[in-house]
Amino acid sequence: MSETTGLSTFAKDVHAGLTSTPKCLSSKYFYDETGDQLFQTIMGLDEYYLTRSEFEIFENQKEEILKSFLGNDASFNLVELGAGDGTKTKVLINYFAKNKVDFSYSPIDISQHVLDLLLEDLQKLNPKLKVNAIQGDYFDALAKLNENHFQKEVVLFLGSNIGNFSNGSAPKFLKRLGDNLSPGDLLLIGFDLMKDPNVILNAYNDASGITKAFNLNLLDRINSELGANFDIDSFDHFPTYNPVTGETRSYLISTKKQEVFIEATGESYAFDIWEPIHMEVSQKYSMNTIHQFAAQAGFKVVKDFTDENNFFVDSLWEKI
Ligand code: AVI
Repeated sequence: MSETTGLSTFAKDVHAGLTSTPKCLSSKYFYDETGDQLFQTIMGLDEYYLTRSEFEIFENQKEEILKSFLGNDASFNLVELGAGDGTKTKVLINYFAKNKVDFSYSPIDISQHVLDLLLEDLQKLNPKLKVNAIQGDYFDALAKLNENHFQKEVVLFLGSNIGNFSNGSAPKFLKRLGDNLSPGDLLLIGFDLMKDPNVILNAYNDASGITKAFNLNLLDRINSELGANFDIDSFDHFPTYNPVTGETRSYLISTKKQEVFIEATGESYAFDIWEPIHMEVSQKYSMNTIHQFAAQAGFKVVKDFTDENNFFVDSLWEKI
């Protein structure tokens, strides 16, 4: 393909990934409707400790979390980046509402569909809650919020979503996030911690094969949206964990020599037998790295909220 203009960003990214060495696809494309549902299922799996750990932190430490959010202020605006279905956040929201805290909630998500469902749900649970949902890119949305910024912002970035940023881009993202906040604003950010490598690997290699289906779904999506002919059954799921770097990586491995044609790009892509496609990074962190990230991005660490196993941390940072 000599000319990529006129192609969708999705098609361009897929082409770039399948022509690079090693081949790769971006996990940001995992989340179509089926991908969203598979991720919901993953969050409930026994092996996937992340969601459970963060839920436990919120459930057991909501009082302390609220105190830290308020500090010396009487009110705040709770902003959630990538709100999803808000299951964990609802623990906090309901507690704040029960305690008559003066706060508003601004969920930000790229998907209007996700926001509509969340709004409907929140409306039922809590008709009096002040909600200002913003559909779009995180930074555009934060800029919009800043236009009429008159109270403390408390930004939530949960679920170790930061761990899916590709190599080296997490600190840049955090710096940019900090640049969009004012001194005294807070950021509560979820990081999955380094731990027994077997526990980590199992979380990405569940016995029921849901994570495998989650990865393969992207090939399905390329088939249906870009007119490709991936033979899904000839790719196997292979996760790895490197205890030195804390990197969990997921690969799809071509179990035969084959060619895949994509109508949207007009190109064929050759796969050798056992050739991998790198699909996702899910970074695991040490507390040291997390605290370095905070300092580099212009924050001071207020408090680390961990679960009883020390599997996960929600680290609360204040913009300096
Ligand atoms: C969304 N993200 C934090 C998940 C993770 O753990 O990296 C996505 C995921 N991939 C496989 N299982 C879950």
